[in-house]
Amino acid sequence: MSTTNFALFGAKPAFDKPLPIGQLYFPSWQRYEAAFHGIFERQYYNNNGPLHNKLEEKLQQFLGVQHAICVSNATIGLMMVADAMGLSGKVILPAFTFIASAQSLTWAGLKPVFCDINLATHQIALDQISGLIDKDVSAIMGVNLWGGSCNPKELSKLAAANGVQLYFDSAHAFGCTVDGVSIGNFGDAEVFSFHATKILSATEGGCICTNDENLAERLRSIRPSYGTDNPVSIVRVANARMSEAQAAIALMSLEDFPENQKNNETLYRYYETQLDTIPGLHLVRPTGVSFSNYQYVVCSVDEREFGIPRDLLIEILKAENVVARRYFYPGLHRTIPYVNDLSYYQDRLLNTDSLCASCIQLPIGALVTAQSVERICNILIQAHQSSAEISSRYEK
Ligand SMILES: Cc1ncc(COP(=O)(O)O)c(C=O)c1O
Repeated sequence: MSTTNFALFGAKPAFDKPLPIGQLYFPSWQRYEAAFHGIFERQYYNNNGPLHNKLEEKLQQFLGVQHAICVSNATIGLMMVADAMGLSGKVILPAFTFIASAQSLTWAGLKPVFCDINLATHQIALDQISGLIDKDVSAIMGVNLWGGSCNPKELSKLAAANGVQLYFDSAHAFGCTVDGVSIGNFGDAEVFSFHATKILSATEGGCICTNDENLAERLRSIRPSYGTDNPVSIVRVANARMSEAQAAIALMSLEDFPENQKNNETLYRYYETQLDTIPGLHLVRPTGVSFSNYQYVVCSVDEREFGIPRDLLIEILKAENVVARRYFYPGLHRTIPYVNDLSYYQDRLLNTDSLCASCIQLPIGALVTAQSVERICNILIQAHQSSAEISSRYEK
């Protein structure tokens, strides 16, 4: 293939319109209409509504967890958990995660301490955690990335051995299991995101899971106080209510979870077969789980082997209307306000820095078909084969 076939150099793009990243679940119009008809008939939008309550019940059954507390998004869910758990001082979390993981701590008046990651799994480096624990650390926030897990069982042992609390940002891990146990049951609490890009969508939304009765009462009282028979005294309240409209979509999305997971897995397997043949593109497997939602396709680009740097590859795909992105970028230690401590982190987060410079997320989800994956993989193969020509032409 000559470079003239690439949209970056003026050819027609491979896709007529941008192919997005993310699950982007849309139920059929008839189901959507029926669900919203019910909301209109009941004339009830919010506050402990029937759909909201049904969703909490269904989530508890699905996950086998005692309390599923729905919230308006995962970010506020993480803020509420940090507050409800009574954390103080510092909390350890990976530097390679979404900004909300760390910002939830800052909002709760806590200081994040960033840990490096394992380059093969992208999950927090378990062997580096103990070295970060001092008398001011009150908790570890594990982050279950990419439909995989950060090894909650080992983290539980580590937290117990060091006398600190443990909870999880499980925004990426809805429906995944570890040795048959649903993520949502580990640590003191876990927080899922139901953002539109996630496999379970409320358009915006999330849920906090816990098996701790007292913590659940505190969380329900913070949310604010509807939905608990037993309001407890808390220091701060938030508005994290999930509306009936959000719950309606989430209920349909939960019903369709098996189909959406299956579709994702089929697409992922297709990517896997193709990407494994391309030198320099290393797909991350969802490790540490017995069942994955296959919500993400993330790989790292080895510029030397692939022939093209990651950012140029993103430009090539963008020109073809494929929305690929650097996710996560940059490492959290390089974002405001944490960058103020950069001199401390300079040589401690080398894997995070390396991955942030090389990782790329590719489209998967309800709007992606097997044919689109085939076309994307063809672009990647052609880009590798024409890498020398593309690089020299791009530089001119
Ligand atoms: C790891 C992680 N944590 C937290 C969040 C925040 O989720 P939400 O958008 O529901 O607040 C995200 C969002 O993508 C995420 O990727």
